[in-house]
Amino acid sequence: MAQAQSDGQPVEKLDRDEAAAEMAELSARVARANRAYHTQDAPEISDADYDAIKARLIALEAAFPDLARPDSPSTQVGAAPAEGFGKVTHAQRMMSLGNAFTEEDVQDFTARVRSFLNLPADTVLEVTAEPKIDGLSLSLRYEDGVLVQAATRGDGTVGENVTANARTIADIPHSLSGDVPRILEVRGEVYMDHQDFAALNAAEGGRVFANPRNAAAGSLRQIDPGVTARRPLRYFAYGWGELSQPLAPTQMQAVERLQALGFRINPLTRLCRNTAEMIAVWTEIEQQRATLGYDIDGVVYKVNDLAYQGRLGFRSTTPRWALAHKFPAETAWTRLDRIEIQVGRTGALSPVARLEPVTVGGVVVSNATLHNEDYIAGRDNVGALIREGRDIREGDWVKVYRAGDVIPKIADVDLSRRPEDSRPYAFPTLCPECGSEAIREPGDSVRRCTGGLICPAQAVEKLKHFVSRAAFDIDGLGARQIEMFFADPVLPIREPADIFTLAARDGRNLARLRNREGFGERSVEKLFAAIEDKRRIPLARLIFALGIRHVGEVASATLARHFGTWEALVAAIDGAAREPAFAAPDDKARRATLSDSPNWAGLTGIDGVGGVLVNSLVTTFVQPAEREGIDRLVAQLTVLPAQSTHARQTEISGKTLVFTGTLERMTRAEAKARAEAMGAKVAGSVSAKTDLLIAGPGAGSKATKATELGVMVIDEDEWLRIAGAG
Ligand code: IVH
Repeated sequence: MAQAQSDGQPVEKLDRDEAAAEMAELSARVARANRAYHTQDAPEISDADYDAIKARLIALEAAFPDLARPDSPSTQVGAAPAEGFGKVTHAQRMMSLGNAFTEEDVQDFTARVRSFLNLPADTVLEVTAEPKIDGLSLSLRYEDGVLVQAATRGDGTVGENVTANARTIADIPHSLSGDVPRILEVRGEVYMDHQDFAALNAAEGGRVFANPRNAAAGSLRQIDPGVTARRPLRYFAYGWGELSQPLAPTQMQAVERLQALGFRINPLTRLCRNTAEMIAVWTEIEQQRATLGYDIDGVVYKVNDLAYQGRLGFRSTTPRWALAHKFPAETAWTRLDRIEIQVGRTGALSPVARLEPVTVGGVVVSNATLHNEDYIAGRDNVGALIREGRDIREGDWVKVYRAGDVIPKIADVDLSRRPEDSRPYAFPTLCPECGSEAIREPGDSVRRCTGGLICPAQAVEKLKHFVSRAAFDIDGLGARQIEMFFADPVLPIREPADIFTLAARDGRNLARLRNREGFGERSVEKLFAAIEDKRRIPLARLIFALGIRHVGEVASATLARHFGTWEALVAAIDGAAREPAFAAPDDKARRATLSDSPNWAGLTGIDGVGGVLVNSLVTTFVQPAEREGIDRLVAQLTVLPAQSTHARQTEISGKTLVFTGTLERMTRAEAKARAEAMGAKVAGSVSAKTDLLIAGPGAGSKATKATELGVMVIDEDEWLRIAGAG
């Protein structure tokens, strides 16, 4: 996976450009991971990697608040709904949960709640504790006791309508009798038992699900409810959304009422009176984890008193009154047979551990990621922390862990079982695929093949990226087909342009392709049609598809919006490439002048486009082989110009605002939220990039600086007029 160049550097050490570049990249990675996890039921990265990326993004957003996008994936709960199902706007948002990993985190939680509510020391704060089910959440809407709608969480605001499928789940009542609120939305988790999961995988033969969670998600999101009906899905109720009247005064009594109405609630739900009791229940539930028969990944604590819950309310995506206390990852020991190196699209050499297969948390694991050479050597921060500096060698016994993960990791090495003749792993300095030198740039944790286009591994990975979902997304041309065509001696695809000449080279008589394994006449026709279909391509997709380092989905969209056409973008890149300083890679002083040069600033001046990204873009375009390949591709395409996606243009769309002094009729938080909703950015300090300073009484140095810089300064009245609140 591509890593931002500044990755790993302490946030405080980054300059704005580096932060912007890394944030754009991380946002795209989080968004992509969200989509893969929530929409496609096929996680691409491990939970731990996901958490690390998201934590880094949040840290960067905290350090550079004005660079944070209002629609940052860090503020989103899940992913937008998949196509194919109707959309449902939840009457009340479906929230996520804040995480705790240590006892201290739990203590902080109760302390925070007590202080928020201003509870006297002698008042007991009751909290419920129950297992956190590793499935997917489902909201069930009952009107007059009749199930009228079932919806997945989606992005928390809009989910998928899966009513027909939910009706096939035995644990979900179709109607409720007795004393039922006229409107009742029940929230809970759909999951699959271990036994049923194993049986399903056995019956499905080749197409197996990675874990019960994916099996549950894949089963619920079947277009044909008949398929869902044959899948053994289960449902635990643990909460509610819209209600026409309250269920009860406490969480515990409310779920007991749900139980009385016919829902299953988790039998391990307990009431605690202090942190010690919460930890005791957590420990008790963890001990039962392996024998429960279904996956849980922690314990959820909820403030019992619903009046307190109401007062505590929500942060952007999580309630203040609840907390998920996660279990440590499950682990197992096994032998590491060998370390293999995979070469990625940007030339990154990624080491992978091939393991003696072992079962970890119910899933057979035979590979683990080793990140990079520092990690193997035990020098990496994270690795060193876990392994205390012990290196990883071929032949070692290693402790493997996963926490609902797809990609397992190595937590520890057993030195007592290390073979006597073992040697530290020598990380290759030549690319194993093409033999080119593999170099590590200062500050980069990753070693990269310098072979560029001559490296077959890079070429194949670039092609896979090119056809991937967020890029050209060509039906019938996935990773497997790319590998096949790449190796094909008669009708090869070696670079993106070859995809669009495939039909012509086949002579359109299909003779060559049709007789090949896996290809019938119809599938060849379909493939050609799918390729034709993508000859007209939106600019943003084209930019992203090129697979240039640091140019992710978000940056591609930004560039497309800014330049509008391919020609305008290329002109700007060519202009930047003509800067004499650009051709002086070793001359630091000269290169430092780049950021001020007008041609360069045409690119770096765009919000969210930093120096690292521009450098990567220009460097790619000046390499003749790369440029010719891109030109050959574009000659095959009709690039659709980009349209501005700003839904509503306002006076301050795209502007950077700074508030200073006291606002008398609106809180700072509200002013910031309004400005952002109107498409503006709010920065903490005045700089040359500031467009507008809103100065209330008591404005000090910021107002002076703004005047010096010629920044427009307005007062609160004028601001209220702009904000439509005057
Ligand atoms: S309460 C407003 N209770 O965990 C709080 N969630 O990480 C809503 N989950 O989206 C969640 N077991 O899908 C709650 N006992 C439980 C849960 C639970 C599993 C899931 C749920 C939620 C996710 C948040």
